[in-house]
Amino acid sequence: EHSREIAQTLSEFRLTTEQLLDVKKRMKTEIQNGLSKSTQDSATVKMLPTFVNSTPDGSEHGDFLALDLGGTNFRVLLVKIRSGKRRTVEMHNKIYAIPLEVMQGTGEEVRSIRYTIFQLCVQGILVTWTKGFKATDCEGEDVVGLLREAIKRREEFDLDVVAIVNDTVGTMMTCAYEEPTCEIGLIAGTGSNACYMEEMRNIEMIEGDEGRMCVNMEWGAFGDNGCLDDIRTEYDRAVDDLSLNPGKQRYEKMCSGMYLGEIVRNILIDMTKRGFLFRGQISETLKTRGIFETKFLSQIESDRLALLQVRSILQHLGLDSTCDDSIIVKEVCGVVSHRAGQICGAGMAAVVDKIRENRGLDHLDITVGVDGTLYKLHPHFSGVMIQTVKELAPQCNVNFLLSEDGSGKGAALITAVGCRLRQELN
Ligand code: BG6
Ligand code: GLC
Repeated sequence: EHSREIAQTLSEFRLTTEQLLDVKKRMKTEIQNGLSKSTQDSATVKMLPTFVNSTPDGSEHGDFLALDLGGTNFRVLLVKIRSGKRRTVEMHNKIYAIPLEVMQGTGEEVRSIRYTIFQLCVQGILVTWTKGFKATDCEGEDVVGLLREAIKRREEFDLDVVAIVNDTVGTMMTCAYEEPTCEIGLIAGTGSNACYMEEMRNIEMIEGDEGRMCVNMEWGAFGDNGCLDDIRTEYDRAVDDLSLNPGKQRYEKMCSGMYLGEIVRNILIDMTKRGFLFRGQISETLKTRGIFETKFLSQIESDRLALLQVRSILQHLGLDSTCDDSIIVKEVCGVVSHRAGQICGAGMAAVVDKIRENRGLDHLDITVGVDGTLYKLHPHFSGVMIQTVKELAPQCNVNFLLSEDGSGKGAALITAVGCRLRQELN
C-alpha cells in the first residue's frame, strides 16, 4: 500500500516527451521575449548582451589576473597566454571556499577585494543576486567601480580592471580556444545558466546587424512568470518558499545542485510525515536546510554503491535508516536528478534549435563548453541531459566539451582578445 502511494508521489517527477517538448517550446518563447525590444522589460529570461563578439584565434598573448567567483569556490588566477608556435596558456591559481558570512553579509564585507562579486552584469552593473548570495547594498551597483575602490583601499598594487565576465561566457571562451565549433557555454553546478552566440540582428537592444554577439541568457529565471507552474510540484514550491529569493529562479531551482538536495529533503519530510520512512520520525537533521549537497546525492546515486553504503552515507548525515528506507531515499534522489537532467536538456534543445534556425540550416553541428559540479560529479545527470538534447533536437548534433580549467581562463582570454582587437585598431 505504501509503495503505491510512494510511486504516486514520485510519478509527478516523471515527465513525458510531450511535456519536455513543451518546456523546450516555452524556453524558445522566453528567449524571443528577452531579445525583442517590445517585450524585453517584462521578460524573465533576460538575454543580456555581453559585448563579446569574437572567440579567440590563437594570436592573443599577455599576463592576466582573473578572479573567478563560482558557486562553490572563489579562485584567483594568474593566466599567462603565449601565442605563436609555442601557443600555451599557463595558469597559477589559489582556491578559497566562500564563507557564508560573506555570501549573506552586508555590502561592506563583499566590498573587500577578495569578494567583490559579479553575477548578473550588464556592463558591470550587478542586477540581482542568485544562488546563495544575498549580501546587502550591492544590487544596482557598478561592480567594476567597487572592485577598483577595493583595490585602491588596499594600497598594495595597481591594476586595471578590463572585463567582467559571467561564468558561462568564460567557460564558452575557454573551450572555444581549443575547439572553434564551441559557441555555447553551459554551467550545471550550484546554479544553472547558459550563453550562446546570437545573431546581432536579433539582439534588438544593441545597434548593428552584422555578425554575432554572445548573450548571457540567465536562463535560471525561466518560469518566474508562472510558465512552468504546471510541472512544478508541491515540493518545488516548498523549496522556493523557503529560499533566499522566493519566486525567483524557478527553473534553476528545478535543475541545479544547490536545490536538488532541498527537493529531496522536502519529499523525504513529507514521506516521513505520512509514515513511509524513518519510522515516521522527523529528525532534527532532516529539518536542516542544505544537508544534501550535490556530492552526497552523487554518492547515493552511484551505481557501484551497495545499499549498505547508502545507509552509511545517510548515517553520516545523521539519518538512521532501515534497508527499506535506503531503497526509497535512493529512488527519490533518482527521480529528482533525472528530471533535472531532462529539463536542463530541454532548455539546451531550445538553444541549439534556435541557433540552427538562425543560420537557416537543416542540420547543425555544434559544441557546448560545460562546467559545474552537478555535471562533473553526478553519475547520471550529464547522461540524461545529453540524451534529452538528442531526442528533443534531432536536427542538431551536439558535442559537450568539459571545461577543465574553469572560467577564469576564459575571462583572461576575453581580455586578451580585447587587447588584440585594440592593438589591431591602433
Ligand atoms: C567552475 C568555474 O569550474 O565552475 C566557475 O571556474 C563556475 O566559474 C563553477 O561558476 C560552476 O560550478 P559550481 O558547481 O561551483 O557552481
Ligand atoms: C546563477 C547566476 C548566473 C550563473 C549561474 C551558474 O544562475 O545567476 O549568473 O551563470 O548561476 O553559476
